[in-house]
Amino acid sequence: EGSERSERLRALDLAAKFYNHIVMNHDAGTQGLTYLLGRNLSKKIIMDYQLGYAPQGEQTLVDFLQKRQISRETLLETNLAVERSGLLRDRFRHRVMYPIWDFQGRVVGFGARSLGGEEPKYLNTAETPLFQKGRLLYGFHRARRAIRKSGMTLLAEGYMDVLALHQAGVENAVAALGTALTPEQAVFLKRVADDVILLYDGDEAGQRAAARNLPILRQAGLNVRVARLPSGIDPDEYLKTRDASAFRVEVLETAVSGLLFELQFLTRSHPNHLTSDRLAYLKDAESILARDESAVEREEALTYLAETYQSPIEALREDVLRLRRALE
Ligand code: UTP
Ligand code: MN
Ligand code: MN
Ligand code: MN
Ligand code: MN
Repeated sequence: EGSERSERLRALDLAAKFYNHIVMNHDAGTQGLTYLLGRNLSKKIIMDYQLGYAPQGEQTLVDFLQKRQISRETLLETNLAVERSGLLRDRFRHRVMYPIWDFQGRVVGFGARSLGGEEPKYLNTAETPLFQKGRLLYGFHRARRAIRKSGMTLLAEGYMDVLALHQAGVENAVAALGTALTPEQAVFLKRVADDVILLYDGDEAGQRAAARNLPILRQAGLNVRVARLPSGIDPDEYLKTRDASAFRVEVLETAVSGLLFELQFLTRSHPNHLTSDRLAYLKDAESILARDESAVEREEALTYLAETYQSPIEALREDVLRLRRALE
């Protein structure tokens, strides 16, 4: 049991080293290296994060690992290989490889990106006992110290966002692996630091993901703020044209409270919130406010509502307090 597990970890570690060796040293990896450098990643970050390239061949990795006494069973259990017509074949081919580590810093799976437009854009290791996406956070093993020191986690959407942030010197960034955040991930983050800034893509999917994950993080007792990126831009793209200090000032420092984010998100279901739907919007906004436990955030949100909707703050506050008493 324990020896099976350690053989799997050994296979995954060897695979990460193999893919990285190919991208750094081999002609077969040229396309991968060109791709990574073209995305502004330095050779240093490629080495630090063991980024790699899975070559075109059907069983390049399989051959490499079998020569190192990795069993057929382990190749399949780690999802590094799949079986086709009775033959072992590499699971990942012609893709840029991002090893994914567990919290102890062991490689437990991969994200694998297509170089062109092939779908899916990212192919991930299938769920295995070692690789459970809902219990992992990309980049955490390298971000841990910076998260502790700053008391804050930056939670981004993607692998490339984490890498671009770390490369820019913003080291307290991690990402969930393309799925909805789980309570387990949130509870884990709370053990390391109290504050989170959600750093999701400035597109529809990103804003929805922020709205969906906000309550999960709050439920774990975290103080959450939500960053606003320019429309259509993710952190990686942002850092192509702006440096880390601009990022801190323009994105991190302007992040809004979770409550303010919710009020702004609510405007989506009230397209005419500034005109004909103003009162209906305010009524829904007040009930969101009433459920927020932070008096400071409520006061800030009241000011925002009063200013944006030209409504007397005393009246808004009175409504909210009445709603709060009704909730008790
Ligand atoms: P995005 O579509 O925002 O990708 O998905 P990205 O991170 O900006 O990637 P690049 O810059 O195009 O390379 C966010 C995250 O969702 C997961 C990945 O973890 C990705 O980083 N995802 C996305 C998948 O797992 N599979 C997909 O096909 C797409
Ligand atoms: Mn070699
Ligand atoms: Mn996205
Ligand atoms: Mn993105
Ligand atoms: Mn991106």
